Amino acid sequence: MIQKPKGTYDVYGKNGKTLLETENIIKSLMDKYNYEYVRTPLFESSDLFHRGVGETTDIVSKETYDFLDRGNRSMTLRPEGTAGIVRSFIENKMYSSVLQPVKTWYYGPMYRYERPQSGRFREFYQFGVEVFGTESPIMDAEVISIAVNFYKLLGLKEIKVNINSLGDTESRNNYREALKNYFKPHLELLCDDCKKRFEKNPLRIIDCKYDSNLDIIKNAPKIIDYLNEESKNHFLQVQEYLDTLEIDYIINPNVVRGLDYYTHTVFEVEANVKGFGSQNVLCGGGRYDSLVETIGGPKTPGVGFAMGMERLLSALELENIDLVETDNLDIYIIPIDDKLKYSVYLTNLLRINGFNVDMDYLNRKLISNFKQADRMDAKFVIIIGEEENNSKIVTIKNNKTKEEYKISEEEIIDFFDKFIKE
Ligand code: HAM
Repeated sequence: MIQKPKGTYDVYGKNGKTLLETENIIKSLMDKYNYEYVRTPLFESSDLFHRGVGETTDIVSKETYDFLDRGNRSMTLRPEGTAGIVRSFIENKMYSSVLQPVKTWYYGPMYRYERPQSGRFREFYQFGVEVFGTESPIMDAEVISIAVNFYKLLGLKEIKVNINSLGDTESRNNYREALKNYFKPHLELLCDDCKKRFEKNPLRIIDCKYDSNLDIIKNAPKIIDYLNEESKNHFLQVQEYLDTLEIDYIINPNVVRGLDYYTHTVFEVEANVKGFGSQNVLCGGGRYDSLVETIGGPKTPGVGFAMGMERLLSALELENIDLVETDNLDIYIIPIDDKLKYSVYLTNLLRINGFNVDMDYLNRKLISNFKQADRMDAKFVIIIGEEENNSKIVTIKNNKTKEEYKISEEEIIDFFDKFIKE
């Protein structure tokens, strides 16, 4: 028996319905905010992620799925969406669009060779947004509010929004130096990964999962104290706009994020519900004002987020939120005595007129067909026997009230229009 690859999963049954429902909600939410859908390839040239996400990040140094294609080009399955969207923004010259800022959204699978555990997969789905062309703190606040309003719309209550600022390049460099001076005499206390981070990316020591309880980490200098006036001012304005948008948040100096491209605002939304495992970050994002330039485009500020769909589904389950409508089926058609042709005809007629219809394909007994209609939560049942087949007048039973109607084929669409669509 061939099994699915480690760290992957199948979607079927009720989870499939919940997922499709959340996807529908995402689409209509993005229309409300006037964001445009963008789809980029699942694989890109490896260079894109090395340059975009950063050589020293865990994602690029340990987690990418890399392969040589048959033309000996080094390709990588995308570990995240931002770098590909930025590549597309540059390649398709979206920066010269008359519609500015360019507000995009995306949805699709991402690949990271991580150690699988609850909430952490090797293939997982992200919904994300990326906005290009404005440094305005309004956009940082809007992007955060999209994520929060989406969770609220689904009914999630137990969420916590953590925000922080990494400042501009000057502030970040000052902070880097301060961290290096601070950690230098205590290197032996840190884990092996953090020892490596010390030289190349000391900010990542702050959110190390292994060392987080050490006093040395807790007492480390905070970025907030190293922000220059401009960065401080930007961050304050983000907070003011979040207040205007009525978004609750906590300023958390330990949120530094695992990707190299961030400047100014960074944020994470956590599931705060009991029973959630350690992978409780539902959504992460922030501003990246140098990334477009790093990848070879004109200097363009950007801000965005991505959220994991698997963790979202877990949060919905833990908060007992059911998005799936059970009475989706309008009509169940039961052929008796092999009156299959007319049943097939009627099923098709009703489906193409906009109703959700199923029929018995298995020649079941009447009683088990009624059970089937109940299990499917059908609103109406139509029985097609000898008489109905000849007269084209069918018996329709309301499966909830048990009332019965005799309706001719000519009137059947009007009948269901009245009872179902209205
Ligand atoms: P990230 O924090 O690496 O950020 O991922 C965003 C979200 O994707 C996480 O909060 C989590 O919900 C989900 N996620 C990440 N890895 C896994 C995994 N192995 N299994 C399941 N879910 C996972 C980014 O990807 C950035 N591109 C976000 C961004 C967009 N920043 C600016 N724009």
